[in-house]
Amino acid sequence: MQARGLCRAESRGMFLGYLEITGGIPLHGEIEVQGSKNAVLPILASCMLGEGACTIENCPSIGDVDDTLEILKLLGCRVEREGRTVCIDASSAGKNEIESMEAARIRSSVLFLGALLGRMKRAVLPLPGGCAIGRRPIDIHIKALEKLGACFAEDDKVVATARQLLGDTVVLPFPSVGATENTILAAATAHGITWIKNAAREPEIDELCEFLNCRGADIERTKNGDIRVCGVERLRGTTYRVKADRIVTGTYLLAAAATGGEILITNDNGSCLRAFLQVLEKMGAGVIRSPRGGKQEGIRISSPERLLGAGDLETAPYPGFPTDLQSPLMAVLCRASGKSCIREKIFENRFKTADELVKMGAEIEIDGDCARISGVPQLYGAVLEAPDLRGGAALVLGALQAKGCTKIGNIGYIDRGYENIERDLRLLGADIRRVDGNRDC
Ligand code: UD1
Repeated sequence: MQARGLCRAESRGMFLGYLEITGGIPLHGEIEVQGSKNAVLPILASCMLGEGACTIENCPSIGDVDDTLEILKLLGCRVEREGRTVCIDASSAGKNEIESMEAARIRSSVLFLGALLGRMKRAVLPLPGGCAIGRRPIDIHIKALEKLGACFAEDDKVVATARQLLGDTVVLPFPSVGATENTILAAATAHGITWIKNAAREPEIDELCEFLNCRGADIERTKNGDIRVCGVERLRGTTYRVKADRIVTGTYLLAAAATGGEILITNDNGSCLRAFLQVLEKMGAGVIRSPRGGKQEGIRISSPERLLGAGDLETAPYPGFPTDLQSPLMAVLCRASGKSCIREKIFENRFKTADELVKMGAEIEIDGDCARISGVPQLYGAVLEAPDLRGGAALVLGALQAKGCTKIGNIGYIDRGYENIERDLRLLGADIRRVDGNRDC
């Protein structure tokens, strides 16, 4: 294992180490972003369905992937990993119970529910964990899977069984991303046709469908957004390349915007970030998107030294403003000129970052699901703790625009979703480094 890998594993387990950032440098240059976390996690879980080896290319080297691969191994899968290529063969997987620490830690372990039910008609897993950004119940998953024939027993774990899974019409009360994915996973090899109405429209769901169709599944999204899954008898192995992570793209665009810089993302043209890009443009950033299939598929951002406030905006399911970019945007609005108001409509507890940003001199008032931000001309370096994954990235953005040095602890959270945030930002000219061990302040 590389030294960098060891360091990250340690920091995830014990939250040792911190990021040290000296702000004030405008970012410049070109960068290719990592593969998508939210696409690869359900894809990895779906490898439990069917037999035959699946090769996943451009698999990001992040904490949540490490944990998911660990779960696959515990279930009996053969897992090989070389760099960003992962090969999974579930042919010999015989277990349907997950009791590991990994499952309790990551929210996406809940996706094994649909995959295990689909394959073995039984699934036992701990109540899912994840970032502390809200209650995150799984009632919508359970109701959808019950509609396909699963029964759930009351327990301190999730225990699901099914005599057989039969296609049906599932109407989701809210377009939950995870519940849509679990329903697809259970329906892919069920008998008959499943319709998922009010399905989530996030592009990562379409990536999961694309992957499963490569394996022989029969899934399509209709024009009105519903998903039709025609159950097939078996799935085969395939090779699939994961697309770029739109949330990482958004984070790095914000990093450039916050520092008055200019960067080019070379492997994502922002086509899945329209609502977010509109906000950036409203704030005064110049955004140029190259069309898909053009000479250079990418997105370029240039930014004035100080951005404008964003006015009022709210997070929403795709194609609305993504909740995962809410905290990073908040960090940038702290130094924009004028007032902004963000309403968080997806997760009820996603404003923890505000307390840390205030330590840097930000002016933020939280009122229920609304954060009111009055931009200040300058933020100052501080000693901070990442409150969750995207909140941790937000603090990095705060630090990049701050005067002086910032030290950010709890970086295991950031490592769950960013492959190597300090490598990427250093490539763009930032003064950022990872320091092992405890902070002296
Ligand atoms: C996924 C993403 C996460 C993103 C979120 C919203 C992955 C691995 N994670 O999370 O990065 O922030 O979508 O875009 O893809 N809810 C219920 N009952 C349920 C399920 C959800 O009440 O059974 C609520 C949740 O508490 C939350 C909201 O619905 O308030 C959205 O959750 P959901 O869309 O399911 O998000 P995740 O799949 O957990």
